[in-house]
Amino acid sequence: MFFDRVKPLDAIIETAQKKSLHRSLSGFQLMLFGIGCVIGTGIFVLTAAGAQKAGPGLMLAFAIAGAVCIVAALCYAEVAAMIPVAGSAYTYSYASVGEFLAWTVGWALILEYAVAASAVSVGWSGYFSGTILNEFLGIHLPAWLSAGPLALGGAPGGFINLPALLIAMLITCLLMIGTSESAKVNAVLVAIKVTALTVFVALTFTSPEFDTDKFNPFLPAGVFGGIGTGLGAVGAAATIFFAYVGFDAVSTAAEETKDPQRNVPFGLIGSLLFCTVFYILVAAGAIGTIGGQPIMGPNGIPFPAGSEELARQCALPQYAASLVCSDEALAHVLRQIGWSGVGNMLGVAAFLALPSVILVLIFAQTRIFFVMSRDGLLPERLSTVHPKWKTPHIVTFLTGLVVAVGAAFFPVGLLADYANAGTLYAFFMVAVTVMVLRVKDPHRPRPFRMAGVWIVAPLALAGCVFLYVNLPIEAILVLPGWGVIGVAIYFLYSRSRSHLGRGIVEVVDEVAGEETMVPIHPDGRAD
Ligand code: ALA
Repeated sequence: MFFDRVKPLDAIIETAQKKSLHRSLSGFQLMLFGIGCVIGTGIFVLTAAGAQKAGPGLMLAFAIAGAVCIVAALCYAEVAAMIPVAGSAYTYSYASVGEFLAWTVGWALILEYAVAASAVSVGWSGYFSGTILNEFLGIHLPAWLSAGPLALGGAPGGFINLPALLIAMLITCLLMIGTSESAKVNAVLVAIKVTALTVFVALTFTSPEFDTDKFNPFLPAGVFGGIGTGLGAVGAAATIFFAYVGFDAVSTAAEETKDPQRNVPFGLIGSLLFCTVFYILVAAGAIGTIGGQPIMGPNGIPFPAGSEELARQCALPQYAASLVCSDEALAHVLRQIGWSGVGNMLGVAAFLALPSVILVLIFAQTRIFFVMSRDGLLPERLSTVHPKWKTPHIVTFLTGLVVAVGAAFFPVGLLADYANAGTLYAFFMVAVTVMVLRVKDPHRPRPFRMAGVWIVAPLALAGCVFLYVNLPIEAILVLPGWGVIGVAIYFLYSRSRSHLGRGIVEVVDEVAGEETMVPIHPDGRAD
């Protein structure tokens, strides 16, 4: 009963053919698109939390998380080129392992996209308050307006993160009226981010403060901090995995790519390799100059990142300058080594570029909801398209509301860990999908056929499980908890309303496109 409803691949692919988007993207453009979605709060902000978990072992953490993403990206590349339609991991699962698991993937993608958008909004707020308000305008936002409450893991004296709430709402309004990021704007923002990080690496590596002694001890919390503790190099890898989230958006552009056999894997793997190398260099520059040792608790174990105890330690004068206490880690490093002006420019770069990451994440979330609602699994009203704006405004508004509330009250580290839990589940299911389709449908044309699938896909599965169990326990528990709510909704609402369950499949996925209902045969074949 759980695996009975598999959406016929023919109908899904017909959707893509009807859409027939122009194949115009080159491998390089795809890579820029990937980098645009990926570089954000992870490197600009979570570097601090990563250092609190692993110390200089943060560099190893970036390498571990990057390696897991690269094997997952190969799996994405194969299915994305084969099923180039909206809905990403949700659609791939629907065509391979059936509606029930696809629903759980769609449900988990809410964590990946909506919760990640909240996390990036909070990360942006740190740079906005620190650089724009404080450094440039001399305005000091009171604690109660710049962070969520301590009870939810926020800062002492915090109540609401107003800037994070406002940026999430602003981006939602832009998406409702139909703003999408053009390739040109994306290229400019990528250039700003990459320039800021390059300058950071150059200034830190050539600084007289740079001292290899600062890398000792390299692994103050060990490699394995223990399952559920979120500590050690692998604990940091599980958190810093967030810095790579978003590369799967490249897979959604597979249909618009020239020569996808070559360019989709190039875009996915190229953007990931680029970011991995950059991230390791940035971590090395930060730690080599101002040090990155964790603040240890009384028993010689680092205080958990984002915890009340750590927030209290960070309020003490002796820790005011530490990397692990900063809300705007990279700008803070430059200010500490005598490059205040450049630190502020880096803050401006983050202020300008992070909103585009929020935009892509909210956009991706609305499109997942949109496809799920077109499949009948969510109320169809959600996929109503606004007559003038031509956008799914209702679902965009609701998504933005959730993102804004998350951003207003929760701290960035916690949100990122929750987002990681959902993302790892989606990546896991994509690796399953690749293998299921190789067995069930071996002869279907695959524009990109991954070599060594029976090694790479199991490695991706193992990597996802490995990072998942090394998240902090709250994030580990969020996934099953969230899953139970999702499964209840599925059985109480969605299952009986599913279009596939009722024997119809739409073949057009475009937001403003025409919709055709195609009856399907009992054996699952579309007319
Ligand atoms: N990878 C994106 C970021 O770090 C989500 O902001």
